[in-house]
Amino acid sequence: MSNQYYAEMIGTGHAVPPRILTNQDLEKIVDTSDEWIVTRTGIRERHIADKNTFASTLGTEAAKKAIEEADIRVDEIDLIVVATVTPDMPFPSTAAIIQKKLNVPKTAVMDISAGCTGYIYALSIAESYIKTGAFKTALVIGVELLSRVTDWSDRSTCVLFGDGSGAAVLRATTERKGVLGTYINGDGRLGDLLKMPGGGSMNPASEESIANRLHYLKMSGNEVFKFAVNMMGEASEKILEKTGIRKEEIGMLVPHQANVRIINATAKKLNLPPEKVYINIHRFGNTSSASIPIAVDEIRKNGKFENANPMILVAFGAGFTWGSAAISW
Ligand code: UT7
Repeated sequence: MSNQYYAEMIGTGHAVPPRILTNQDLEKIVDTSDEWIVTRTGIRERHIADKNTFASTLGTEAAKKAIEEADIRVDEIDLIVVATVTPDMPFPSTAAIIQKKLNVPKTAVMDISAGCTGYIYALSIAESYIKTGAFKTALVIGVELLSRVTDWSDRSTCVLFGDGSGAAVLRATTERKGVLGTYINGDGRLGDLLKMPGGGSMNPASEESIANRLHYLKMSGNEVFKFAVNMMGEASEKILEKTGIRKEEIGMLVPHQANVRIINATAKKLNLPPEKVYINIHRFGNTSSASIPIAVDEIRKNGKFENANPMILVAFGAGFTWGSAAISW
């Protein structure tokens, strides 16, 4: 009988650029207030990359920390999956660029575009390969420089996002630990609610596309909010069903950090007390596919790790996409 493998998370890391942009800084750029941003979103500050920092820069930094903690050689890595909607460039993939920066010898490299659910999608891809025995060691990275596609004249979006990256090394084990299960879903009919229309084959860069500001993120925030609450609820229920974990057994809910009101609504649906819900949105804003791996790394490093078993990761994002994962230690 062939072995059943699990993907153990043996190392994690995260990286954010040093520059901090506060709500007070934003008050000088657009017609907004610290009070509005804090009460509507929970965000107080976010990190913004300088012009010499790219997705591959932050992704490599986070990956190095994860590899160091995992204590593996780079030639042991069989797969690099990078979740991002803000790659260095359309191609080659940011995974391939990071591979070069890390000096990883020939191996499978791919980017995955699933908006803020990107990390969960990437995790599910790595888990699937490891489960079947096809690959033994995977590097999974979520990285986003949303500041590069933010319209700094649009107060309804520019206050929300930040830059950052989180990474994890997954390794095959025959023990039942690590990624216990993943769930991913999507509905393209909702795609227009959150998109960046420029820069692809539909609206390649031109004077007209730039004049029409198509290379910026566009969002119908209010409608996204309503779907998000339902999707986060559904994704949480599905992963509990799939893994047999009961609500009261959840060690820590690690939700995508888009809006503290969405996080609280999700926690309420699961009847979770505040100490079982991880929130760091006040320090980072919404870092899209980086938000969950940053949170997971913080939990592992800040001593809450022992009590966070199992973790339920849950996200929604552009596409629309939504998904969840359960991780144990
Ligand atoms: O990771 C996935 C990505 N997206 C999200 O998760 C976003 C989900 N949506 C949200 O988080 C919320 O919808 C927002 C935070 C984006 C907006 O909060 P809201 O409570 O849905 O506000 P709203 O869009 O309904 O706007 C309410 C008011 C409007 O003014 P009027 O029309 O009532 O006079 C806006 O013009 O707030 C105004 N407003 C602002 N005021 C001060 C919008 N943005 C701002 C701002 N500062 N930055």
